[in-house]
Amino acid sequence: MQASQIADAGLANQGEERVRWAAEDMPVLRQIQYRFAQQQPLKGQQIAACLHVTTETANLVDTLVAGGAQVALCASNPLSTQDDVAAYLAAKQRVRVFAIRGVDNKVYYSHITAALETAPTITMDDGADLVSTLHSNKEYDIERVIGGTEETTTGVVRLRSMAGDKVLRYPIIAVNDAATKHFFDNRYGTGQSTIDGIIRATNRLLAGANFVVCGYGWCGRGLAMRARGMGARVIVTEVNPLKALEAVMDGFEVCPLETAAASGDFFCTVTGNCNVIRKEHFDKMKDGAIVANSGHFNIEIDLETLAKMAKQVQHVRHQVEQYEMPDGRRIHVLAEGRLVNLAAAEGHPAQVMDMSFANQALAAEHLVGKAGKLDNLVYDVPAELDAEVAALKLAAMGVTIDKLTPRQISYLASWQEGT
Ligand code: ADE
Repeated sequence: MQASQIADAGLANQGEERVRWAAEDMPVLRQIQYRFAQQQPLKGQQIAACLHVTTETANLVDTLVAGGAQVALCASNPLSTQDDVAAYLAAKQRVRVFAIRGVDNKVYYSHITAALETAPTITMDDGADLVSTLHSNKEYDIERVIGGTEETTTGVVRLRSMAGDKVLRYPIIAVNDAATKHFFDNRYGTGQSTIDGIIRATNRLLAGANFVVCGYGWCGRGLAMRARGMGARVIVTEVNPLKALEAVMDGFEVCPLETAAASGDFFCTVTGNCNVIRKEHFDKMKDGAIVANSGHFNIEIDLETLAKMAKQVQHVRHQVEQYEMPDGRRIHVLAEGRLVNLAAAEGHPAQVMDMSFANQALAAEHLVGKAGKLDNLVYDVPAELDAEVAALKLAAMGVTIDKLTPRQISYLASWQEGT
């Protein structure tokens, strides 16, 4: 088994300071960590986690370790790793960490295989690269794995497709699909962190700008809402009539991307699909357009074609590549088309990751309780765990709510009562 591979062990103290800062805003996870430390529900489990290596993830890892698990962590994106956090986990938590910011695809996958060499009993994935590598390589003992969890929409789509093809070899809990995950993390988390990444990368003013949001899923909704809040004129593009209708009724302009291409100052993809912004759109963009992606993979912007179209590509600012077209127009691509919220900013704030990672920790505990009893399918987080996370979060925020009266309970249970 390999030793950790991190950029700089000397960053551990700085990492610890930042992890502690995030912990302050993760009260639900902290409570779970406290209970895990008493009850040791993960004792004997070896967890391989492929997650963005952030301060929030470090708090999840701390929780899993408190629960008795041994953890190996690799990055779920080559540009999202916070090297000081990787150093903290490797030095202070006896976690094997394989994550260095800015590695190429080859090293990225070698880090995934290093995590798999720890012979996991549970996988914890964000995007399904870990699970797909495990499934496509016969040298790993997949029989040891009691189950896995998946953090994001893209990963859940991939894993459902594996289950549909009957190639999934162990059960997965779709953490992304928990209400306390996607209603908050995908919407408010992506909304804020994407704007944060675009601003940190460009320092451009959003007020009065035309901001094109490609995709109106939960992430797109959050991004459109926050861009509007910054004073931008928001245009939404969609392929799904229902989502497009929702965007219209939320008050956004909706049109094909080819129409929006000429007027956009900012473009951001959040679709989970490939080739969303492509030649016909680059052809129409105005000089100075900013193009970014906040979907999981760097496939949403056709950068290969853009590079072929450009007469020159130049690095003009940290996280900004300028593609100069033969007619003189310049198109600026942020963070190499990788998720701008994690590559150019720090990802979602701890307050929302608190709920996402509370679900992760509870899902891992659930898998241990159900070991050997689940089919090789993608399961929802049990509703009672989702409800527990919501209740704990409200309590931590000091928010109290009403309770149904006995009369209301019997009314809801009856079908005889009408007008
Ligand atoms: N995904 C989005 N934001 C994140 C964060 N802060 N930590 C881990 N994964 C994330």
